[in-house]
Amino acid sequence: MKSFNGAQQTLKEKVILVTLQQPSQKIWEIEDSIRELEQLSATARAKVVGKLIQQREKPHPKTYIGIGKAKEIANLSKKLGATSIIFNNNLTPSQQGNLEEIINLKIIDRTALILDIFARHAHSNEGKLQVELAQLNYRLPRLKGKGMELSRLGGGIGTRGPGETKLEVDRRKINQRIQHLKKELEELDKRRSLQRKQRKKNQIFLISIVGYTNAGKSTLLNVLTSADVLVKDRLFATLDSTSRKLILPSKQKVVISDTVGFISNLPNQLIASFKSTLDEIRETDLILHVINLSSPMMEEQIAAVENILSDIGATGKPQINVFNKIDAINERLLKRIKRKFPDALYISALKNLNIEILLKKIDEIITQNAVKITLKIPYNENKIFQKVYQLGRVISKKKFSDGNILVIEIPEIYLLGFKKFLRENKNIEQII
Ligand code: GTP
Repeated sequence: MKSFNGAQQTLKEKVILVTLQQPSQKIWEIEDSIRELEQLSATARAKVVGKLIQQREKPHPKTYIGIGKAKEIANLSKKLGATSIIFNNNLTPSQQGNLEEIINLKIIDRTALILDIFARHAHSNEGKLQVELAQLNYRLPRLKGKGMELSRLGGGIGTRGPGETKLEVDRRKINQRIQHLKKELEELDKRRSLQRKQRKKNQIFLISIVGYTNAGKSTLLNVLTSADVLVKDRLFATLDSTSRKLILPSKQKVVISDTVGFISNLPNQLIASFKSTLDEIRETDLILHVINLSSPMMEEQIAAVENILSDIGATGKPQINVFNKIDAINERLLKRIKRKFPDALYISALKNLNIEILLKKIDEIITQNAVKITLKIPYNENKIFQKVYQLGRVISKKKFSDGNILVIEIPEIYLLGFKKFLRENKNIEQII
């Protein structure tokens, strides 16, 4: 039994978490970020064997933390049997290299850790290409010196690409691969924007589910559409946006997409790589922001998501804040949060609670500012009926000698396309 446990432990990287606290940072901010780093480390399958904070006026230009502290970590890691050190901040390539010299272990910074998690959670072809490009762009300036040799020896976090393939280490090959990935992604981006154009032409309403990682986005998409999207209790289970058709209670058809899990301070390399996925959010018609009620860092997570939305220029769109996991918190806490966020919706995607309220709310937003139109339609004009049911709803239908008089309601967003459709079908007469 003992040896079995021992064997299992060797599968995990043993890490010490190191955080620098500057005078402007409050202790609770630091504690929150360490808690998040612990969760991220667990998601990357690392076992945290020690945690360390250093207070400093500002980062040391050569080693980020003080040189004395770095030596202290070298000793501590021997004592604790650590195999790598994870920094709660981003390090320059030379700081990383210098720290590896002193500590003689693999040094992982926050960006490398997040890239590693994204690499293992990328499922679609596009997601894999996006993450690999971000990883190689991160890796290129870090190729010099002993640092890279150590990383090569170490394996584990920072050395695996999508699907756990080994990341390339040869500079010339990396450059070639970056060019190749860029080209492939450009092609995919072209295809994606063509699809977007097509959707716009067909006047399909697009809803994007966004939210901090682990908030329950995939679970919500599943329950709304019965789609089979991977759901895992790990940070970043979803990396690729997954679009599904959704039929609302009003019979309106819309497209709903699950997007990448957000996180505070998303590494720049990833923002650049995920450009086309994030572009989609910018062009969406309605944002569902899913919030994890059961997270002790709920409010920070809300702020992180709002910041990313603002960074990618997706603010000002209709948005529903959906507080998820009502089943996982007590009544008193729920009441307190509801008082603070009275306009939001409160659901449990897992337990299928209040989903119909959410669907009604989506319906309401789509039909907001709907315009009433009265049409005279000759008999046997099935096409117009189809179009009306696709874009709006019929309020009344009266027969007259040559056909029907239909009063319909068209949501404002579909009006332009519908008018065009009427112009192309001259035998349909608009009365008002
Ligand atoms: P990323 O892909 O990491 O961005 O995650 P996500 O936001 O898509 O979350 P996902 O749907 O994968 O759910 C994360 C975890 O939360 C899973 O273990 C779900 O079962 C759980 N979960 C989702 N909704 C609920 C809920 O309403 N209640 C409870 N108790 N758990 C939930």
